[in-house]
Amino acid sequence: MKQYKIAVLAGDGIGPEVMAQALKVLDVVSGKFGFSITATQALIGGAAIDATGTALPDDTLALCKQSDAILFGSVGGPKWTASLPPAQHPERASLLPLRKAFDLFCNLRPGQIYPAFAELSPLHPRISSQGMDILCVRELTGGIYFGDKGRSDIDAYDTQRYSVAEIERIARVAFDAATKRRHKVTSIDKANVLSTSVLWREVVERVAKDYPQVELEHMYIDNAAMQLIRAPKAFDVMLCDNLFGDILSDELAAIAGSLGLLPSASLNGSNFGLYEPAGGSAPDIAGKGIANPIAQILSAALMLRYSFGEEEAARAIEAAVAKTLSDGVVTRDINPNSTYGTADVGAAVIAAI
Ligand code: NAD
Ligand code: IPM
Ligand code: MN
Repeated sequence: MKQYKIAVLAGDGIGPEVMAQALKVLDVVSGKFGFSITATQALIGGAAIDATGTALPDDTLALCKQSDAILFGSVGGPKWTASLPPAQHPERASLLPLRKAFDLFCNLRPGQIYPAFAELSPLHPRISSQGMDILCVRELTGGIYFGDKGRSDIDAYDTQRYSVAEIERIARVAFDAATKRRHKVTSIDKANVLSTSVLWREVVERVAKDYPQVELEHMYIDNAAMQLIRAPKAFDVMLCDNLFGDILSDELAAIAGSLGLLPSASLNGSNFGLYEPAGGSAPDIAGKGIANPIAQILSAALMLRYSFGEEEAARAIEAAVAKTLSDGVVTRDINPNSTYGTADVGAAVIAAI
């Protein structure tokens, strides 16, 4: 029997609540599809700061290195933002170094409106009924997130730097993905203002020559944010730098129905990966048992697909999620009148598997 070792980093806020459901789902699918998962929990983020004084403890990093994949919840919250200097906040002191430590340069965020669930989308039915199927390919280890930064009493700065190599490797992921999808890449930039975007465009153009069967379109970020709402069906693969991908993927999630639905895979070209919801620790609803666990559950499905090649099990989870949504078993982020909580949705997904 195949055996996989995963590091489970639930983190802060709703992280542990939604993680509990994803772990139950993994338990059920592994039994059904004949593989075993050894899940070891470790501290990360604010929870790790409280317990050990550091956001990314050595033990946690060591566990990740010994694991086949990381299933990540979310980190951060007002408690730590208010009490610590910015460089020590859980987001900057745990999640970003973790992405960097494993060179997880490629972040995939797939957002869909299934025509049958168009009513989940806040868009007008005229638009949502056409459906949407977008893969956001976000560069994750470069750009303004990791450039030089500093501040004094009277000013502050962040710098954005991209190398040809960094742009090229993420562009290749986008084009490769497009060849298995609808053969279109929309590359998002701000080349009318930013020199990194001018380079981005040049490199993407060059990479595109290796993919004559894929249509390439360039779009400025401001227009893209607008087109995504106006005509989401027109996009296939969206290629974004770190910051633009962060912003557009939340928009993608909202268009699909909720941030609580959007999973993500962070990859480095090997089988290893980190899988996490696109959303955060949701302090406004943490501890209430009402967080949507779907993004975490679908992140586990992406882990089965990309790190373990367990395609059938991944599809079984995705089909069970679709059934749960179509049965109307949804949390309040999707239907404000719903009385279902996190555990109810988890149980419905498991029943559907
Ligand atoms: P957020 O994504 O946590 O929440 C934004 C809104 O979406 C909130 O109203 C929240 O209730 C809702 N939401 C998010 N996930 C949900 C879910 N699963 N079910 C139901 N509703 C959900 O973003 P924020 O409020 O801007 O940030 C809160 C904290 O989370 C911050 O500290 C931020 O830095 C951190 N954060 C962490 C990650 C991560 O760990 N990967 C990602 C994003 C934000
Ligand atoms: C995300 C989050 C992170 C990011 C934060 C918490 C650092 O918003 O994964 O989308 O900006 O990458
Ligand atoms: Mn984000």
